[in-house]
Amino acid sequence: MRQHKLALCKDHFLEWIPEQTERFIKKYEMFTHEQKILVAVSGGKDSLSLWDILVRLGYQVDGLYLALGINEGINYSHESQRLSQKFADENNLKLHVVDIEKEYGKNIPQLSVISHRGEGRPCAVCGLAKRHEMNRIARDLGYDVLATGHNLDDEAAVLFGNTLNWLSEYILRQSPVLPSSNGLARKVKPLCRFYEREMTAYAILRGIEYIYEECPFADGSQSIFYKEALNQLETARPGAKLIFYLNFLEAKKSGNLFIEKNVEMQHLHPCPRCGQSTSTPDLCSFCRMIEKANATSTLL
Ligand code: AMP
Ligand code: FES
Ligand code: ZN
Repeated sequence: MRQHKLALCKDHFLEWIPEQTERFIKKYEMFTHEQKILVAVSGGKDSLSLWDILVRLGYQVDGLYLALGINEGINYSHESQRLSQKFADENNLKLHVVDIEKEYGKNIPQLSVISHRGEGRPCAVCGLAKRHEMNRIARDLGYDVLATGHNLDDEAAVLFGNTLNWLSEYILRQSPVLPSSNGLARKVKPLCRFYEREMTAYAILRGIEYIYEECPFADGSQSIFYKEALNQLETARPGAKLIFYLNFLEAKKSGNLFIEKNVEMQHLHPCPRCGQSTSTPDLCSFCRMIEKANATSTLL
């Protein structure tokens, strides 16, 4: 790990990752051993490793898998569900499975076609649905905290994209912890300071079976483009990604992120249908999309 000037053997690496995770959980006051945690698992290395680490650290943590219905080509959703279930069964853990098509009558690729969002890519609809459903399940099942497997590469890419486009409001909102609001669970990202390759190493060394393939729609996406750009920077200057992200968090904490502090945050109100916070007038974007999908089915 050039960025830490640290080299560890397998055994010490497998101890180091959970120790560091515990340090981040405490540093950012993410959650306590008394709280009920729901970890959103995608079948990938990050979220399954996160589940493994939190269980080893003695937290009360169940899993949530969202079946998105992305099965053209590589059977992505079926395979990622199978691996999430396998991990849960082998470790005697509880996994909640929510199938978007069973809940709403359409899967993600179908909702994407109907809603005309995201220029032919389902990623925008998928992101919207995942956020909405994670919030809904965490609230309905009474979890205190919702944890996702976002790693440093994910967070640095989001920050980089928002900075390039100077989206001040999004930049201000980015954080390892989003406090609970309007009955929604607190959201945390305990792996946000680990490089993606550190998480890959953890999953492999721990013998966790995870889905290697990316979502088939990720190819050519903006976030992959930003990740590649940051990787080039990292190769030339080891530690660049970590410094970019940590200095951002530090500047935000000390109130020095923007010299003129006049960034206007959008006014939020509860969606009249699902109760989740939204800035759009009347229904939230998710409920509006489902309403449109239902209206389209009736016409057909
Ligand atoms: P992504 O949005 O694919 O970059 O994934 C970021 C995080 O969202 C993952 O680390 C998981 O915690 C969560 N996640 C992604 N896909 C799913 C899914 N199908 N079901 C549950 N959680 C998911
Ligand atoms: Fe949602 Fe790929 S995982 S579009
Ligand atoms: Zn709604």
